[in-house]
Amino acid sequence: MTKIIKTVSEFLIIRESSNYVNDSVGFVPTMGALHAGHMALIKKSKEENDITVVSIFVNPTQFNDKSDLENYPITLTEDLQKLNEADVDFLFLPNYNELYADNYKYSVTENELSKKLCGAFRPGHFDGVLTVVLKLLNIVRANFAYFGEKDYQQYLLIKGMAESFFVNTEIVSVPTVRDKDGLALSSRNVRLSKENRVKATLFPQLLNHSVVPEKIRAMLEEDGFKVDYIEIIEDRIFGAVYLEGVRLIDNVKI
Ligand code: PAF
Repeated sequence: MTKIIKTVSEFLIIRESSNYVNDSVGFVPTMGALHAGHMALIKKSKEENDITVVSIFVNPTQFNDKSDLENYPITLTEDLQKLNEADVDFLFLPNYNELYADNYKYSVTENELSKKLCGAFRPGHFDGVLTVVLKLLNIVRANFAYFGEKDYQQYLLIKGMAESFFVNTEIVSVPTVRDKDGLALSSRNVRLSKENRVKATLFPQLLNHSVVPEKIRAMLEEDGFKVDYIEIIEDRIFGAVYLEGVRLIDNVKI
């Protein structure tokens, strides 16, 4: 049975317990609405560690768009059932007032990669992500923390932050989990209409079959997508698009 911990002080007591100190701890931070992508992170953590901690916290500081935050799916009962079935040891469910006792006076900023791709279109987004992840890493003090490659830019930024601030947790990436038709799993996919859910598959298909960003952008726009960016950085092609106001991101190694 997954033990639910709602306060930082309660978590700190667990952390000092002998099991926690002596065993290897894996951590999977999430914003809930758990799907098979999250479960792949949890599976890897379970395989590699004695104890697995999952957190659920819909972090307001990383939402630059108020309506995106308001529409973010919350499915706590189903999430808890999945965590129990996966035999997760601890669910950490902090609240804003405790996590942000400083009311976000202090934040973490990265000045290069965080300004590109999603960062160029979502001002402040990565400051919010890095700040909350640093807080969570400092509270949980896991040996390993797991992040999905769908959010590859996020993974790189968190890895860089952990190294820069000497955080004693190794940041591990896990390959993107996709539906049978190729669409990367995301908590936002449930907000797509049936018709647009079918249309959405064009996005990963084009990222997989072309390395000409302008061509991909033109084809997506012709099909009714609003495109934020299609861009190659090093050996990956990254994209972010909207379908009926739902933002989808993806990336593929080329
Ligand atoms: O990827 C997410 O779900 C979030 O950005 C994270 C890492 C849990 C931070 O809020």
